[in-house]
Amino acid sequence: MNKAIPVTEKIYWVGVNDRETDLFESIWPLPHGVAYNAYLILDQKVALIDTVKITYQDSFLDKIKELLGDKELDYLIVNHMEPDHSGAIKALRAVYPRLEIVGNKKTVDFLNGFYGIKDGIKVVKDGDQIELGQHKLSFYLTPMVHWPETMMTYEEKNKVLFSGDAFGGYAALNGSIFADQLDLAFYEEESRRYFSTIVAKYSPMVQKALSRLAGLDTKIIASTHGPVWKNNPEHIINRYDRWSSNQTEEGVVIVYGSMYGNTKVIAEAIAENLVKEGIAKICLYDAARTDLSYMLRDIWQYRGLIVGSCTYNTELFPPVAALISALLNRRIEQRVLGIFGSYSWSSGAVKALQSFYDNQNVKCELITPVIDAKYAPNGDVITQCEQLARNMAAVVKK
Ligand code: FEO
Repeated sequence: MNKAIPVTEKIYWVGVNDRETDLFESIWPLPHGVAYNAYLILDQKVALIDTVKITYQDSFLDKIKELLGDKELDYLIVNHMEPDHSGAIKALRAVYPRLEIVGNKKTVDFLNGFYGIKDGIKVVKDGDQIELGQHKLSFYLTPMVHWPETMMTYEEKNKVLFSGDAFGGYAALNGSIFADQLDLAFYEEESRRYFSTIVAKYSPMVQKALSRLAGLDTKIIASTHGPVWKNNPEHIINRYDRWSSNQTEEGVVIVYGSMYGNTKVIAEAIAENLVKEGIAKICLYDAARTDLSYMLRDIWQYRGLIVGSCTYNTELFPPVAALISALLNRRIEQRVLGIFGSYSWSSGAVKALQSFYDNQNVKCELITPVIDAKYAPNGDVITQCEQLARNMAAVVKK
């Protein structure tokens, strides 16, 4: 992956694999790295779609220089200004000073604010087109997928949709840039983890963009992260549609926070009874020892969500509070919700979980009983676990 790779006869992937950054946006773990994809279209006029993170600009520029030789770079299309894609703009301008930067009205402020670039900008509106020769590019504004300036670029000859972050995923590209040559299940999981952490909050805007783009004949999806979907674009379009419309599968995610193991006992008892009720897909997570991104990834797959917390300083256990905050931020909906907790001298966690359920941004169905155990769970509590599992399984299986 150290050289440009042809996507079509005249369109090249000139992206980079980042296997060094530990945390995406300094928050989300990257155990498998991440790719920053950029694409070069060779025609009478040459256009580059997006750049890469600043730390990788040298190898990125080498790929472009090798393809172009003495030829000029005419356009840089900026689909998205987040620095993991705009980081090399200044260096690119230094090498190609006549380069025209193409963005929309909102892109202009970002270019000035991040890089002090005010000149040589071509502002396009929704539906505008640029002719390169044999290739024609059309621009579709897709605000808040997931920044206000985001847009997509459609290339008519080969029917390629350069989609920005949409349809993207975590994980570097291991040996090929094409999804149909890679481990699809692995890249789909990493795409769902990416969606749930980065894009999920903007699901209604994703749905809006999907409706607008439905009329395009798209043969290739070329996102800024993850593999290029060349022979199977419908696969990732279908997944983004499902994730952004809260379509889930039969299964239950149980997340608990426990100081001394009592809340954990309840979580285990619920899981055992869910299996007895015929639920095979169960993800059981200790919130203090599991990165938030993995819990969100699975919550965006399964219909059931059961959250438990010990009471800590009269409130939620902090790692559980972090998950609750993330779910509120993403306006979780269409899940079947169960709540449990334990305390010794003062209850509080279950009350906080009920407030979460009552929040106007949460549109889930609450399953009874709500379990709030004092001290170690006794026989009555275990009976309640059986009831909760039975009621949860009945709804999740529907
Ligand atoms: Fe990959 Fe929103 O930047």
